[in-house]
Amino acid sequence: AEQALQVAIDGPASAGKSTVAKLVAKRFGYIYVDTGAMYRAVTFWAMQRGVDLSDEAAVTAAMQSLKIGFKPGDPDQLVFANDQDITMAIRQPDVTNNVSTIAALPQVRTILTDQQREMAAAGGIVMDGRDIGTTVLPHAQVKIFLVASAAERAKRRYAENIKKGIETPLAQLQAEIELRDHKDSTRKVSPLTKAQDAIEVDTTPMSIEEVVTTIAEIIKKQSSTI
Ligand code: CDP
Ligand code: CDP
Repeated sequence: AEQALQVAIDGPASAGKSTVAKLVAKRFGYIYVDTGAMYRAVTFWAMQRGVDLSDEAAVTAAMQSLKIGFKPGDPDQLVFANDQDITMAIRQPDVTNNVSTIAALPQVRTILTDQQREMAAAGGIVMDGRDIGTTVLPHAQVKIFLVASAAERAKRRYAENIKKGIETPLAQLQAEIELRDHKDSTRKVSPLTKAQDAIEVDTTPMSIEEVVTTIAEIIKKQSSTI
């Protein structure tokens, strides 16, 4: 029988992780889990309750009343906080600009990491984030580290925003992306780093389809050696 693998996709902001992970999951009939959405959900939840985002005890206390859920949706998966659909809310700029603060809290990471491992236990999963290959699923059979230049990533985010009717200057987007990358790469717990055994894919000059094909080939090659 076909092995149901664990596929970990990590990398900096706007490298294309979620876009590509979703398509790869579809191609293999795997489940897709967006771990960034989970950090965003906690950020949204804490902000909505007026919790001091750097107060670890207060944030983890607030998390006790939060159950994060995913539901299939078209075109995008829906994200829930208990019964509340927070799919759109967690992509708002105020959440985006605060999420790295929440993601630096060790106890928040422990709680979310446990939930992520549970979701991945049976395999047949594509999980994207910052620390999947290093911390969450160190034994994943496939580990991809997606990168692209900061200028290219800012352009991609710009185009995405325009589609949503938001116009933020390109230079501001690039500065925000670089600041978040810096925070994510320098935090003490599970910083954004490439796992030793991850395959790096530089997507700067690549189309989405090219990236999906590249990763699909890596997965096929891996499954044939197991
Ligand atoms: O899609 P985008 O690159 O903007 O970010 P995301 O994947 O939604 O992740 C949002 C934030 O959550 C990141 O900037 C990290 O601070 C945090 N994160 C994390 O620390 N660990 C993960 N496994 C996933 C996300
Ligand atoms: O999840 P992450 O933050 O890494 O990136 P994303 O939200 O999946 O992708 C950011 C944007 O880049 C999306 O609008 C994609 O359509 C676009 N894009 C891409 O993901 N990959 C390419 N090779 C080219 C564009």
